[in-house]
Amino acid sequence: MFKTFMGPVEDEAAVTYLRPETAQGIFVNFDNVLQSMRLKLPFGVAQIGKSFRNEITPGNFIFRTREFEQMEIEYFVNPNDTIGGRPADEAWHERWIEDRLAWYRRYGLRPENLRLREHEKDELAHYAKRTADIEYHFPIGWSELEGIANRTDYDLKQHAEWSGKSLTYFDEERKTHVVPYVIEPSAGADRSLLAFLVDAYREEEVRGEKRVVLRLHRELAPTKIAVLPLLKKRAEIVETAHAIRGRLARRWVTVYDDTAAIGRLYRRQDEVGTPYSVTVDVQTVGDPARAEVGDQKVTIRDRDSMEQIRVPIDTLDSVLGRLFEGDPWEGVAAGSARAEGSG
Ligand code: GLY
Repeated sequence: MFKTFMGPVEDEAAVTYLRPETAQGIFVNFDNVLQSMRLKLPFGVAQIGKSFRNEITPGNFIFRTREFEQMEIEYFVNPNDTIGGRPADEAWHERWIEDRLAWYRRYGLRPENLRLREHEKDELAHYAKRTADIEYHFPIGWSELEGIANRTDYDLKQHAEWSGKSLTYFDEERKTHVVPYVIEPSAGADRSLLAFLVDAYREEEVRGEKRVVLRLHRELAPTKIAVLPLLKKRAEIVETAHAIRGRLARRWVTVYDDTAAIGRLYRRQDEVGTPYSVTVDVQTVGDPARAEVGDQKVTIRDRDSMEQIRVPIDTLDSVLGRLFEGDPWEGVAAGSARAEGSG
């Protein structure tokens, strides 16, 4: 426990402990949530917030810190129910393990970097009937990403005993009061972020040069789109790029950058994981000196394949919308004109 003093006086009366898990706040609120939301089992309460542990060996970047952001769900189930012939708590535990593994895979962690590890009997926390850890293959080796525990009715019973307030659920079907069992997925937001970063980081060779690319899932990428002018000397190109950026920024986090040549601009966006870049060039706006009229089309470049397509400006929102909703690049690109790219 992380012991400290509350207030200016450091005496025994001021000793306090910073919470080591968000879970207990949920147990204390169990009855409030149950009554005010008029819920039936099973139901879950989720919380994200700071937790503190007086770790002896913090380190490995943000893998282990004394203050961290914890995400927990307490999923309350009726221990008298059965699902497929199994006690409901055991069936729901399996379901949560599968769902949490699927969540990490859905957001891009490679399956070969994920594994499940059962806690041995002598390793189980005092409150747990069963715990399975989802482990990730970090550069420091296989380590815990998330623990999924069956905490049984231990916590609600402890709170009831020490507070003198009953924390039970009335089972209408059986006309009995029951203390729910709890399945608890418990994860660190910081640790998940580290895993997503590590997994997404790639060094590739492109035409004899090293490319660093963060292949973040589009929903995790902090910047969704970069709008880039091919030539910053041409006022029409810059103005068009700014206007496009302004429009796209209403819907997606969009940046504008004109501080380098286009190849360098693309590499910068690759390094921070921006899924798509939109480039405005001479063809877009035309060239009055040569009596050339602009085609009002721009290039969309895909971070991962580095392929480019050319689309009318007024279709940008719908094309990008499809991509961000998860339509694969190949399918979207198949319906558009390919463009020659500069990497
Ligand atoms: N609530 C479980 C843990 O914090 O490890």
